[in-house]
Amino acid sequence: MLIRPRRNRQSAAIRALTTETHLHPQHMVYPLFLEDGHGVRREIKSLPGVYRFSLDALIPEIESCVSLGITSFVLFPAVSDELKDAVASYSYADDNFYLEAARQIKSRFPEICLISDVAMDPYSSDGHDGLVVDGAIVNDATLPILGRMSVAQAQAGFDMLGPSDMMDGRVAYMRAVLDENGYSQTGILSYTAKYASAFYGPFRDALDSAPKSGDKKTYQMNPANKREALIEAELDTAEGADMLMVKPALHYLDVIHALKERFELPIAAYHVSGECAMLSAACRNGWLDFERAMPETLLSIRRAGADVILTYFAKDFAQRFPNGV
Ligand code: PBG
Repeated sequence: MLIRPRRNRQSAAIRALTTETHLHPQHMVYPLFLEDGHGVRREIKSLPGVYRFSLDALIPEIESCVSLGITSFVLFPAVSDELKDAVASYSYADDNFYLEAARQIKSRFPEICLISDVAMDPYSSDGHDGLVVDGAIVNDATLPILGRMSVAQAQAGFDMLGPSDMMDGRVAYMRAVLDENGYSQTGILSYTAKYASAFYGPFRDALDSAPKSGDKKTYQMNPANKREALIEAELDTAEGADMLMVKPALHYLDVIHALKERFELPIAAYHVSGECAMLSAACRNGWLDFERAMPETLLSIRRAGADVILTYFAKDFAQRFPNGV
């Protein structure tokens, strides 16, 4: 036999030389859930090992992640019902605890990349990412609300803003208002291809943010579609996004791959709550070995083409593989 692929697999040293894909803690973004108050560290039932924190408890958590080599975080707020209204006005209120937390986190850890969530759902009494008028989610009237939210977040010190709402034209709208207000250095990590997925369940439990009626199918993408993701990616690129994201990740590896092949911007993938929960559940049942299944899972997302991975396993990974895999 002239060609024997097994020669390159015969020792750990040769396998190390021929490893095609690497993954390090610095490639990961760790999602954090924040609520108002003090001394709160509440485990999310459907996402074991992940917690909802008040700011005082979150600061030491960030500190321990930073010491493990994690340099980027995305922050999500859990807003109490009495602060929600139809136009999400709390999202840019002066006394908003999420914006205050960003200020304090960035003054404490100026070196980290802190990413926001731009969408109406955490603040909306309808629980939708856009404005609801007569039962419909209206696109263009949502944009000024997202614009105000964006300026408030940039002012609070977020390094990148993450529009997760899927309204048409929001990246261009945000870019314009950010620039007009002097925030030309604030980046946009666009949720480019965000699908109407069943795998956001634990996240909505964590934040109590499920839509009050209907579903998100008129703005989030149809799971059957791949070419449509290319249209979204072309638009986001033209509108000034700094990174393109696919969400969920594992069930959409083909979409990650397609975007990586055709676009030059960095590609991010969101390994979402339900995808992490599935693996955690199987491991807790003794059906899978977390030590092996977790890095293999994350590596598959990276191999598909993700430069950046948002995952609830970032801390677990960094603890076990400080030098990466
Ligand atoms: C809200 C938002 C969602 C997620 C991130 N931002 C949920 C949704 O769209 O309903 C999901 C993340 C996850 O499941 O981990 N705009």
